[in-house]
Amino acid sequence: LLPAIISPSILAADFANLAQEVASVQAAGAEWVHVDMFDGSFAPNFTIGPPVVASLRKASSIFLDCHLAVSDPAKYVPALQAAGANSVTFQIEPFLDAAAAAAAGGSSSPADTLAAAVAAAAGLAADIRARGMKAAVALAVGTGVEAALQLVQQGAVDMVLCMTVECGFGGQSFQGQVMPKVQVLRAAFPGLNIQVDGGINAETARIAAAAGANVLVAGTAVFGCKAGHAAAVQQLQQALI
Ligand code: DX5
Ligand code: ZN
Repeated sequence: LLPAIISPSILAADFANLAQEVASVQAAGAEWVHVDMFDGSFAPNFTIGPPVVASLRKASSIFLDCHLAVSDPAKYVPALQAAGANSVTFQIEPFLDAAAAAAAGGSSSPADTLAAAVAAAAGLAADIRARGMKAAVALAVGTGVEAALQLVQQGAVDMVLCMTVECGFGGQSFQGQVMPKVQVLRAAFPGLNIQVDGGINAETARIAAAAGANVLVAGTAVFGCKAGHAAAVQQLQQALI
């Protein structure tokens, strides 16, 4: 049976009161919190980094689900380990782009180029795991599922994140055309943690769960909920039953 996990995204929380916000969603039933770390390069926004993770680690026992939407994720893994992150999700696109650049002008087949990207990503995932953290790979809205399928096949990652908005900001609209990727991953790997992130609310959570997602990231729907964090988390949990 798949775990049903709600991971509120603190990007939508009040950063001036982060410990209280995290305590509140944990009390509301959230198993994880989602920590969006963007470098202003891969994603257009610049958010927070390892120092905030370290403070959250001191303030809370909650599972810290870190989303690195950055151009060079390997650079931040040691600091995230030291800060006490529980899981690190990196985007696959820097690896796809690097493999494509290396293959440019050469005679590598697309399959070989994909294999090179997967091997490099698997190397990062192995380093994340060697440091005692879970490793996950994220697919941007426009990225295919092929590399993720190979990484899961190789047992290289613990979770796949299918972004349902473009990385960068909370409050965007859910992009339903991503659901076929979730369906393909779920059909291939019944026991895999599949996370969706972006525009998730009580209504879109049901669409994502129906496609096979079992880990829901929600920022605005939780931290912007007038009825309070508990009501918001419970509504999302309902979608996963
Ligand atoms: C978007 C981030 C998401 C975002 C979710 O780039 O990766 O985690 O914070 O926020 P909502 O739920 O408001 O779309
Ligand atoms: Zn995120």
